[in-house]
Parts: sequence; C-alpha cells; structure tokens
Amino acid sequence: MLQETITRDQPARRWQDYVVPQCWEDFTAEDHAVWDLLFARQVDLLGTRVVSPFLDGIDLLKLSHPGVPDVEGLNAILTPRTGWRTVAVPGLVPDEIFFAMLSERVFPVGNFIRTRDQLDYLEAPDCFHDMFGHIPMLAHHDFAEMAAHVGRLGSAAIAAGEGHRAARLYWHSVEFGLAKEHGGLKILGAGLASSFGEAHFSLESDEVERLPFSVEQAINTPYKHDAFQPRYLVSASLDETIAEVLELTPEALLAI
Ligand SMILES: [Fe+2]
Repeated sequence: MLQETITRDQPARRWQDYVVPQCWEDFTAEDHAVWDLLFARQVDLLGTRVVSPFLDGIDLLKLSHPGVPDVEGLNAILTPRTGWRTVAVPGLVPDEIFFAMLSERVFPVGNFIRTRDQLDYLEAPDCFHDMFGHIPMLAHHDFAEMAAHVGRLGSAAIAAGEGHRAARLYWHSVEFGLAKEHGGLKILGAGLASSFGEAHFSLESDEVERLPFSVEQAINTPYKHDAFQPRYLVSASLDETIAEVLELTPEALLAI
C-alpha cells in the first residue's frame, strides 16, 4: 500500500536501504495462530468472490500451509515463475521507493503481523495484507508484467512531480480494483481481498459507485486511504485492464 508523504529534502535513499531481515524465527506461536485465523477466515469469506488467478496463486504459493510464510519459501516458488520476489520491510515505504521496488519486481512485505485484538484494524499494512493480498496475483504472468509496469510508470510520474497519477492507477487496479469474470463481479485488488469488512462491501453495498475501469478514469478518480472507498472501478476483464495498462507510456500517463 502506498504512503502519501514524500520527503524530498533528505539524501536520496535506494530501495535496498529499506529492506530488513524478515527474522521469521522471531514470529511467536501467537503470531502464527493469528495468521492461521486470518487465513481461514478470509478464504471462507472470499469463496469464489475473487478473480480466479488469485485463488490459483494461493494454491501455487502454498499459502494455506499453517503459519506466517517465510519470504525465502515464497520466493523459491514465485521468482522462478514470474521473476518477482518479496523482501521484508518494517512498515510503509515512501512512494518513490515503493514504485522503484515494483519496477524491479520486488514486493515489500511487512515483517510484522497484527494482534488478535486488531484483526480488522490496521494502522499500517502487515504481512497478512501484503502476503495474502498481494503475492498471489504476482504469480500470474500477465498481472506480474502489469505490476512491474506500474512501478515504471510510478517512478516516471514521481520524477515529473505527478506521482498522484500513478498512485491512482495503482490504487484502482492493484489495490482496490474490481473485475468482471465470467459475467460475475469479482474482487481484484489486494486491499479488498485481504479485508474482512470491505470485501463484501465492495461487491454488495448499494451505497457506493462502481464505474467502468479505464486508465483515464483511474487517473481522474481520487481515493481514500483511511476508510472504505466511496467508489470502485470495475475492469471489464482482468486481461483487458492488464493490456490497457501495459500500453500506457509514461508520456501518455502525464498527458491525461
Ligand atoms: Fe497493499
């Protein structure tokens, strides 16, 4: 998930500077139990309300194994498949670092997990959001290409002082997008797939707008990062959105 603040008056840091050891062995039995509780609850909640590549990714990456996944175990499956790898970070990273990571097929995952009394509330995305929500789709070859391209677009947009354009594109696809699949409305975004409250809300609430996804619509649609979204963009299909985003050049992004 993106952090809004970009600090410009400090020495430039590389994305590698934000990476920390996951220290998987430091997760406690309670941490692993919280993962298992979240996983079982969310899989049951989602059922087939999520695009099928997400469910394929859960299986491929063996995410149903008990306990918090370790990043090396994930990477052993993910990297040979799509070139992506996960790295541990202590919390949100600045936007320019996040997009730089994506452009190099690196996905940051929190090195911590929420507590049992915070199952539905998060001040910052933890490893359940990052690993359960994001990593399954990165095992899908075409989505993996798109996510790396969003990283390239984001780096270019930030360099041009227009980072919000890429942030909105990212938000309305990778994070909170919906998509049609076989005629049904499905969850695409990680923020929805990993949320107990917003997953059904996004699909079923009568109180929100659902607008057709286009790159132009995404870039012109603000979002909320601290509440349920008031509107969701719906891809006509995952494949169409991937193709549309992959065709977008940095120059075109800045011209919309
Ligand atoms: Fe996220």
